[in-house]
Order: sequence, then structure tokens, then C-alpha cells
Amino acid sequence: MPPFVIQERYSGRRNDLSPLMECDELLRGMIASGGPVPNDYAHVNRALRHLGDAVRAGLVSREDVLSYAHDITSRHLEGTMQARALGKKYGYSGDFEIIEAIYTLQIAQEPHLRRWDLYFHSQAAPNAVRNRKAYFHQLLHSHSAGRTKVPLNVLNVASGPARDVREWVLDNPECEVFFDCVDAEIHAIERAKKLCAPFGKRVEFYHRNVLRFLPARGYELVWSAGLFDYLTDRTFVFLLKALMAVTKRGGEVVVGNFSDYNPSRDYMELLGDWVLHHRTRDHLRALALEAGAAADSIEVMWEPEGVNLFLHIRR
Ligand SMILES: C[S@@+](CC[C@H](N)C(=O)[O-])C[C@H]1O[C@@H](n2cnc3c(N)ncnc32)[C@H](O)[C@@H]1O
Repeated sequence: MPPFVIQERYSGRRNDLSPLMECDELLRGMIASGGPVPNDYAHVNRALRHLGDAVRAGLVSREDVLSYAHDITSRHLEGTMQARALGKKYGYSGDFEIIEAIYTLQIAQEPHLRRWDLYFHSQAAPNAVRNRKAYFHQLLHSHSAGRTKVPLNVLNVASGPARDVREWVLDNPECEVFFDCVDAEIHAIERAKKLCAPFGKRVEFYHRNVLRFLPARGYELVWSAGLFDYLTDRTFVFLLKALMAVTKRGGEVVVGNFSDYNPSRDYMELLGDWVLHHRTRDHLRALALEAGAAADSIEVMWEPEGVNLFLHIRR
């Protein structure tokens, strides 16, 4: 689709389409040359930032940009991570398959698509997702250290593919750690059960909506990543209260949330229609207070990209 078609197609509401055309020109050039190479990444990010600024300023409508993203993706990028994210196979962004593909760095085999996936995985947000797996593992290490005879009970809320659980148990077979995993998506539960089959006795799965049900046997560690950034403040506080209630005295709740510092945000929102509630450290702290956490029990940490924050509440 040459640029003038953009004018015709998307000129309904707003009249400054130059940031969208700039982006289109760049993407088309890269499609023609076999996909972006690392030297191109900054150009793409810059064009997306311009486009994001134009959307925020009300110069280009978000609907027009999304309509464009669907067009270009379905014509040229089918099979890439970008197409899979935009396609929302299970009806929402960030399903267990996408998360699994991010963890395992899945890359299309077709030569003309490979570079697009390399670009996707190079970005700050997928890096932050991979880092949060390591963050969870670190937490498991620190909570299980020194517990020789007493088992550690962990609740994993919105567990998705549970690849994080699988890797940790395989690497630490001698540790007495038991996991309860809850997810509302039956396909995620089925996938996670397969991944955790080699040590099935260590992991219990619940196919439930965590806003309605939580197993409540009492946990030393309650972990949730990739869920709270989809929740409004009100639901955030409601669920956090429920998680605090099933955490034993001396235990810890740790909740991940993307921070307001996310260099991939324009890419996610404009080319992936992947919208999250990005929150600052102060915002997370305020929500924890609202949920009834004592001020001195709250801490906010982050993974090395600084994109995924972690709200810690000591019980
Ligand atoms: C982005 S994935 C995160 C998966 C996993 N925690 C991780 O970080 O690898 C989000 C998961 O939340 C699940 N989910 C979303 N809303 C839920 C709810 N209300 N109750 C339980 N699970 C939910 C989805 O099915 C999906 O598997």
C-alpha cells in the first residue's frame, strides 16, 4: 500500500498523517530489504515514538494507527511474534502462548520474517518478561534457603505456562517447594500441566478466575506476574487484599507491574494493540496502602531493564 493510500484510507478524523506515513515508509523499506537489522532498531523506535507523540497530542487517531497495524501485519508479517501478539488468539493480549514464545525466544524460520522476530525479542519489554522469570527464581531461592525439613508453599497467581515453575523445580529437585498455580485460561492450564508433568506431585493446578477463587491453604510466598498490569486500580486493590489474606505471617506477597518507564510502550500499544496499566513506584505503594499493607512492610523493586516493577509486601 503506497503512502497516498494511507491518506485516502485514514484521513477521516485527523489531517496530520505525516507520522503514520513516516512510519509506513520506514517499515515498507525494511519489508523490502528482508526485515530490520540491529542498526535499524533505533530508527523504528524513533518513528514509533513520533507516532505515539502524535496520538497522544490528538493529531492521529489510535484507531487509524491500529487499523494500519492490522493491514501491514496481515499483508507482510503473518507468522511473526508481532502478528501473534496482534492476533490475540485467545481474545486478549499477553496470553500464555505469547509469554511462552517470549521466554523461549521463538523466531520464525522463514528468512523474510526472522529479522522481525529478532527485533521483537530485542526490545525492553520482552527482556523484562524474561528477567521476571529470573526474579521469581531468585525469590524462590531466598525463601527456600535454610528450610531443610519444612516445605515452602508458594501460590502462583495467573501462572500462564508455568515455565518459571518448571525450570526452577528441574534446577532444584532437592528443595521441598510446593506450588499452587491458578489460571483462568484452560489452554494455559493444560500447557502448564504438560510442562510440569515430570514433577506433578509438587504442583497443583486450579483452572479458576482469581478474582473469584484462591486456594487458601496458607503460603509463605504469593507471586503474581503479568496480571496486575491488566487490572484497574480498584480491582488491583481488591485482589491484593485477597492475596495478603492467604499469605502466612512472616511470608511475602510479590506482585509484578510494568512501570511508567517502558521504552517498548509505543510499539506494544500501536503495533501490537497491547495496552497495560503502567504504574510508578509511588502508585504501587499507594495501592498497597489502600489494600491495608503497613507502610513499613512495603517495598518496590525492579528487574535489570527497570521495566517490570515488583511490589513486595511482608506479612
Ligand atoms: C501475561 S500472562 C502471565 C503468565 C505468567 N504469570 C508469567 O509471567 O509467565 C497472564 C496470564 O493471566 C491469566 N489471567 C488473566 N486474568 C486472569 C484471572 N482473572 N484469573 C486467573 N488468571 C488470569 C491469563 O490466562 C494468562 O495466562
